[in-house]
Amino acid sequence: MHLPISSLASSSPVNPTPNDYVADHVRAIPRSGIRDFFEIVQNMQGVISLGIGEPDFVTPWHIREAAIYALERGKTGYTSNLGLMKLREAIAAYLAEDYTLEYEPSTEILVTVGVSEALDLALRAVLNPGDEVLYHEPCYVSYSPSIALAHGHAVALHTREADEFKLRPEALRAAITPRSKVLLLNFPTNPTGGVMTAAELEEIAKVCREHNLLVITDEIYSELSYAEPHASIASLPGMRERTIFLHGFSKAFAMTGFRIGYACAPAPLIDAMMRIHQYGILCAPIVSQEAALEALRHGKQGMIAMREQYRLRRNFLVHGLRQLGLSCFEPRGAFYLFPNISATGKSSHEFAMGLLKHEKVAVVPGTAFGPSGEGCVRCSYATGMEQLEIAVERIGRFVG
Ligand SMILES: Cc1ncc(COP(=O)(O)O)c(C=O)c1O
Repeated sequence: MHLPISSLASSSPVNPTPNDYVADHVRAIPRSGIRDFFEIVQNMQGVISLGIGEPDFVTPWHIREAAIYALERGKTGYTSNLGLMKLREAIAAYLAEDYTLEYEPSTEILVTVGVSEALDLALRAVLNPGDEVLYHEPCYVSYSPSIALAHGHAVALHTREADEFKLRPEALRAAITPRSKVLLLNFPTNPTGGVMTAAELEEIAKVCREHNLLVITDEIYSELSYAEPHASIASLPGMRERTIFLHGFSKAFAMTGFRIGYACAPAPLIDAMMRIHQYGILCAPIVSQEAALEALRHGKQGMIAMREQYRLRRNFLVHGLRQLGLSCFEPRGAFYLFPNISATGKSSHEFAMGLLKHEKVAVVPGTAFGPSGEGCVRCSYATGMEQLEIAVERIGRFVG
């Protein structure tokens, strides 16, 4: 039982425990399904992990060298709250060239501590308590908690393998209420690898324009698109003014530990996000900003080479799991496979625990990505080919 705040302040004879001081909305947030699972994995020997959500590649050397060189030059202070101007200019040039998006570096781009911070700022900057945020599920584990922490109300829209995990405009339309304020998108999607074409996004954009929804689009996997070229909803007619575009360096440039990302949006929205960022964070680390600049200036070839490796691994894994009789949507982007294991008669949790216990292969239960992930597991192919070969063999023994 938790004491209400009022009783903590009064001269109640009951002594509060430290837990009683925790805010109700924080206490209500469930522990991450992935974290619990990987605590078990960490205590086991000889496990092949397909559970990790980060590149197995080390950050390319020239990018690490740029970080070292920044330190050598004594770059150890704060930067502008918005981030280094030369980095914001490079981001603007990159988005103009590869995404047909135009943002003004001095007022419309904010450099953040990963997409994680950018998402948190975006939600906190726009939500009033109780505002609804609609998002497609299965989805990245942090969406629902991030919405709750910003005092919003999370509304999941289930996507299905039969629809290639795309968001259907009818599903969006049916979920809209007078409290709906934001649509949160993530294409290519973690954990499904689903993508949406420009024409499909236009149908979603139409609903957003009709209902005045603000779109927050997390395009962290956009460079890792294997089918058609990536399309951003922010580039569609009438969408730039109602979209907060989020991107970062963690995935495509293998820079997770640098913790660097950015948000782009019309100036009033960036200004609102900046007000939170300047008091909470001040600025993203300068060394990481220098490294990110190098990634944008000279990192494209390395990024393309890594993407080709992911593509080969994806092809191998899709083929391997289909040979074992598992139904498997071929992901169009990111570096995850989301095979359907329901034919085994096991729940996604039972499957993942059984596979770990009997064959020492770690995959993530689909339910870690929301209830609609039941029946599937997530396998990351940000793992070396040799490991993938052994993993497929072991999964074969397990399902056999
Ligand atoms: C969809 C999605 N968004 C954001 C993040 C976090 O990115 P960052 O490292 O830039 O904070 C992840 C990490 O797995 C992700 O999968």
